[in-house]
Amino acid sequence: MIGCLPVETNKNTSMHEIVEELEKKRARAKLGGGQNRIDSQHAKGKLTARERIDLLLDNDSFEEWDIFVEHRCNDFGMADNRIPGDGVVTGYGTINGRLVFVYSQDFTVFGGSLSEAHAEKICKIMDQAMKVGAPIIGINDSGGARIQEGVASLGGYAEVFQRNVMASGVVPQISLIMGPCAGGAVYSPAITDFIFMVRDSSYMFVTGPDVVKTVTHEVVSAEELGGALTHSTRSGVADLAFENDVEALMRLRSFFNFLPSNNHQDPPKRPTPDLPDRVEPSLDTLVPANPNMPYDIKELIHKVADEGEFFELQPGFARNIVIGFARMEGTSVGIVANQPMVLAGCLDILSSIKAARFVRFCDAFNIPIITFVDVPGFMPGTTQEFGGIIKHGAKLLYAYAECTVPKITVITRKAYGGAYDVMASKHLRGDVNLAWPSAEIAVMGPNGAVEIIFRQDAGDAGKIEQRTEEYRKKFANPFIAGARGYIDDVIQPRDTRKRICRSLAMLRDKAIDNPWRKHGNIPL
Ligand code: HXC
Repeated sequence: MIGCLPVETNKNTSMHEIVEELEKKRARAKLGGGQNRIDSQHAKGKLTARERIDLLLDNDSFEEWDIFVEHRCNDFGMADNRIPGDGVVTGYGTINGRLVFVYSQDFTVFGGSLSEAHAEKICKIMDQAMKVGAPIIGINDSGGARIQEGVASLGGYAEVFQRNVMASGVVPQISLIMGPCAGGAVYSPAITDFIFMVRDSSYMFVTGPDVVKTVTHEVVSAEELGGALTHSTRSGVADLAFENDVEALMRLRSFFNFLPSNNHQDPPKRPTPDLPDRVEPSLDTLVPANPNMPYDIKELIHKVADEGEFFELQPGFARNIVIGFARMEGTSVGIVANQPMVLAGCLDILSSIKAARFVRFCDAFNIPIITFVDVPGFMPGTTQEFGGIIKHGAKLLYAYAECTVPKITVITRKAYGGAYDVMASKHLRGDVNLAWPSAEIAVMGPNGAVEIIFRQDAGDAGKIEQRTEEYRKKFANPFIAGARGYIDDVIQPRDTRKRICRSLAMLRDKAIDNPWRKHGNIPL
């Protein structure tokens, strides 16, 4: 025993030293690439990887993993250049009390570039998120593949891609782009469900401006080629663009509240003081008397949703269709709506793709879909046909047809032609299909119809006018469709919220299955 005492003392001393060493190592790891690089990150208007996690997650909820992981590369002077954590901070925490897994790339360490070890850290939290059914948020700020590691880094990317694909439709995946994102690095975010970018400090491109210049002789800035504005208005790659890191992180916290944690959960519910039977008399005059006059469909969405809240996605891209999340009686719903203010609300290539992906997300995660229809048809013309409107329009048709979540459709005005079928019609298993008295459900508008079926009267303006009026009276109303049961009821616009809430309550336990198959073959 006596002999043991000094040993105990030694043990205590050495444990103290170990703890000290541990804390030193941890502090060193937390400094990433050092104060100078942190200062330069701040000078660019960017937060550090850790500051971003702190803002995104609930206070003191972050549990970090793998802070001591280092790369294993010995080439190009890397043996003497190891920084614990290896350029990515990973772990889990909560957003408004709900579990989420996070990785945040640290640009101050080797430009946030992805090494084999860095990729392993990301894969580890993705695997864990899948085991427990929690969403994954990736904060991307990286120079891409770690050049010194060569193929090991490429393999690392592919490991992440594979997991992105396996997680798709199982847990929500969200990418924040908060710095450069070049080369193959863009493909992990591309597979995830939503991409948020920051204006003037984030970029996504397959090849940067220098390579573009060499290969195609085009001179283009990084901002124009792959900045937040480009991707949120022209390419549709990004869902939203924000002014700065803080705004992006705060808005992501709100967005997260709309999503279930995994594909087995129901959509989240939040108590609301907004009554389900609230009537909105102003909606009775929303649709103008002149069928060619536009109106803002977002007014309807805001007036129907709980507390007027609508989280719109892709507001600057394919603006002829509106998509986003709202709540009805506290439950998350997905909204899809034609926008008569832009291109008269017609369906074209970009709007079909935009809405189709959104419908599929909602379907994968049990979120009911409410569709507001005012659509004059598919956009005609060579640009659309040469661009493949047939295949792209079919994406939306396919998405609605395979979708098994509750589907409620309200036709406010035009529902013409193939677009009537596509927009969650009864024939595509719409559960509740309602129409306002102003609805016009027909193969096409009265003018076009008369031009075709009464071609012989073309020179006689009086006759054409009479025929047009005849056609309008017969078809430009909701009653022919109502007589066939293609719509369930014609409702007063002011009652729209009440009718939707009741329908959702009726559909709460809806259960239908599609036939077994490995997977369908959506026209990609
Ligand atoms: C290793 C990298 C790196 C990389 C940047 N760094 N990218 N180190 N591998 N991919 C290092 C730099 O050497 C520098 O280190 C530090 O990070 C900061 O970089 P800077 O160039 O000083 O910063 P900045 O001027 O802001 O420019 C950022 C950048 C640029 C635009 C990202 O660094 C860049 O173009 N990097 C290379 C991008 C690239 O081509 N990546 C490979 C893509 S191919 P020091 O110590 O000097 O400060 C790819 C294939 C994946 O990703 C395929 C998967 C399928």
